[in-house]
Amino acid sequence: MNNIYLDHAATTPLHPQAAEQMTTVMKEIYGNPSSIHAIGRQARHLLDLARAKVARTIQAKDNEIVFTSGGTEADNLAIIGTAIANRDKGKHVITSSIEHHAVLHACNFLEREGFEVTYVQPDENGLVGVEEIEKALRDDTILVSVMFANNEVGAIQPIKKIGSLLESHQAYLHTDAVQAYGTEKIDVNDLQVDLLSASAHKINGPKGVGFLYIKNGTRIDTLFYGGEQELKRRPGTENLVSIAGFAEAASISSSMLDEKRQTYKQLKDKFLQTLVDEEIEFMINGSTEGSVPHVLNISFPGTEVESLLVNLDLAGIAASSGSACTAGSIEPSHVLTAMFGGGSERTRNSIRFSFGLGNTENQIVEAAKKTAEIVRRLTI
Ligand SMILES: Cc1ncc(COP(=O)(O)O)c(C=O)c1O
Repeated sequence: MNNIYLDHAATTPLHPQAAEQMTTVMKEIYGNPSSIHAIGRQARHLLDLARAKVARTIQAKDNEIVFTSGGTEADNLAIIGTAIANRDKGKHVITSSIEHHAVLHACNFLEREGFEVTYVQPDENGLVGVEEIEKALRDDTILVSVMFANNEVGAIQPIKKIGSLLESHQAYLHTDAVQAYGTEKIDVNDLQVDLLSASAHKINGPKGVGFLYIKNGTRIDTLFYGGEQELKRRPGTENLVSIAGFAEAASISSSMLDEKRQTYKQLKDKFLQTLVDEEIEFMINGSTEGSVPHVLNISFPGTEVESLLVNLDLAGIAASSGSACTAGSIEPSHVLTAMFGGGSERTRNSIRFSFGLGNTENQIVEAAKKTAEIVRRLTI
């Protein structure tokens, strides 16, 4: 049986060119970028090139990119780093209740440290309203953190509008763009964001590397203490192999953005059409219009998420119940709970299918047919 991987929002396969680049660096470039000799300078040169490549994908300046160990660290650095550095200006932070746990748990930490956090609720489509952010905004708000696209339902948030709202306010704007980087056009200047997180393993890069964009002039503290790497914002010898792989994946992804968007949208539409043709009952969680093309979250009335996932797995289909970090636990998704309320059946019968590199139309049709068969079996 051939497996069909439809969990690209959890992680993606490494792009062959990224793997090739990493292998070359692993074998040939072993210097420490901080060493002043030729071997070190060779590594530094590669690091500088990688930084420039990544910066270009979001229209940032090279010195505004800080490489991290991934999206989680980027989110933590953005939220805790700016809150601590700006506590003399206020102790209020705004975020949404549908953020990834990397943001939510960092905010919980701030609350324990005496900060006040407002968690704005989304609507039924998973959309966080600008008006809701405006209502929550106070003179002492120092940070607003709203994700670019939700990882469970794909809903794209109005970051540009929030950026305009904060234009004349002291609060910094952070966006967790981990699920959007790779399918959405991102221009940090146009969006007016001060901080933006991204992760390599969601765009066919390696796991364990990401970046935080920090607009020049942003007051931010470091989370770690050590050497002077990454402009002292993230000390520690740089993970050059992964950074080089990330830069390769980011360049490829950025140059193929339109193509990727179109392909994933077609796969999403095909999957939905096949379910319709199979005449099973389902509801889409979130709106297909305002969402990233690779994520599709579907509720199957009369089923239970655990049996759905087990049966899909047995049929060779890799999908997920939402955030990979909470998959496997029986707790209902915090995102679907925020959208539909804790009592809603949708929090217990929904599956996230996410598309990406390597998926073909034939696979999608086969996966949708098998899904329909399973749903029919489980609802008898
Ligand atoms: C929206 C979002 N933010 C942050 C993360 C964490 O990124 P990483 O796995 O690179 O730590 C994820 C990963 O699932 C995510 O989807």
